Amino acid sequence: MTEVTGAPADVLHTLFRSDQGGHEQVVLCQDRASGLKAVIAIHSTALGPALGGTRFYPYESEEAAVADALNLARGMSYKNALAGLDHGGGKAVIIGDPDKIKSEELLLAYGRFVASLGGRYVTACDVGTYVADMDIVARECRWTTGRSPEQGGAGDSSVLTAFGVFQGMRASAQHLWGEASLRGRKVGVAGVGKVGHHLVEHLVEDGAQVVITDVREESVRRILDKHPGGEVTAVADTEALIRVEGLDVYAPCALGGALNDATVPVLTAKVVCGAANNQLEHPGVEKDLADRGILYAPDYVVNAGGVIQVADELHGFDFDRCKAKASKIYDTTLAIFARAKRDGIPPAAAADRLAEQRMAEARRG
Ligand SMILES: NC(=O)c1ccc[n+]([C@@H]2O[C@H](COP(=O)([O-])OP(=O)(O)OC[C@H]3O[C@@H](n4cnc5c(N)ncnc54)[C@H](O)[C@@H]3O)[C@@H](O)[C@H]2O)c1
Repeated sequence: MTEVTGAPADVLHTLFRSDQGGHEQVVLCQDRASGLKAVIAIHSTALGPALGGTRFYPYESEEAAVADALNLARGMSYKNALAGLDHGGGKAVIIGDPDKIKSEELLLAYGRFVASLGGRYVTACDVGTYVADMDIVARECRWTTGRSPEQGGAGDSSVLTAFGVFQGMRASAQHLWGEASLRGRKVGVAGVGKVGHHLVEHLVEDGAQVVITDVREESVRRILDKHPGGEVTAVADTEALIRVEGLDVYAPCALGGALNDATVPVLTAKVVCGAANNQLEHPGVEKDLADRGILYAPDYVVNAGGVIQVADELHGFDFDRCKAKASKIYDTTLAIFARAKRDGIPPAAAADRLAEQRMAEARRG
């Protein structure tokens, strides 16, 4: 996946001239009455309508917002392709501090812009937008997912996201140790929020020894209290977690950039598989991991449970159908490791190749 940064000229270059296949459409939206300024980027509709969330964020500049929308939309094409969804990739960003400018009027105006695309782009929640916001957007736009169960939506996606990450971890164990189980393995989970705490439950049930950390003490305490038998222990911070002796798996489930020049050299784990988005801080980190013999399960592959859920919502949400789809993350992760081995490339690169292959085949079909 190419990086898009900065100036409008770069953005235009990516849009119209990128040899890696630029974006299909970018829409700039403005509604003066409500203060809405948004960018909707559609990277690809090769596999179906573009699907991706709405990020509400106080960008430093309008150029930065466009660049982020383009990057995120491209990432969604790859994620949706490997999740086996009949959806292309898109993303929207609303410019501004959600705590200051978010209003019903603004979200309705935003919904009208998404609706004007006639279904080429389907929206959902992302950083800064929530289920309640999507309920409002949906009043103006039927191509809205991530709504509350009361409004026909699927609600919180963290249950299936954690389930999918667990499938990716089982695949990693199968690839490395010849057994699709974490029984007897030591697994470190950094960030036990919505996704992380469900992941801990899967791991305990599977018989793993779990080490957790979180900046919120109450989140750690809640889990330790639930598991007084010693199967879950805690360390002070992520820095300590990644150095735990005998750690088999490291699961970053907090913020992006967890894998970088400072952390990779000191990781004790043999596998990295977690929910956090954008774990590789910069291109090249995937190779550093491979050089150290650490197996990396690409983040956008294993954390696809959430997008599988929102895609399903368009057809009337069915939890069991979604869970069956999210179980396939196991097979996809295994296929990526096999491809990486065959081509002599890191799994992150193999994942990109598989996604590109699926998109190219759809274009020919
Ligand atoms: N929720 C989903 O369905 C979903 C889907 C795909 C990807 N993700 C990604 O997974 C990650 C976790 O998502 P979530 O929904 O659980 O978010 P969350 O906010 O509920 O949980 C994140 C947790 O990480 C903790 N944290 C923050 N900084 C930390 C640090 N430096 N060290 C240790 N802990 C820290 C927070 O206190 C919080 O408990 C995010 O990167 C998110 O983008 C989530």
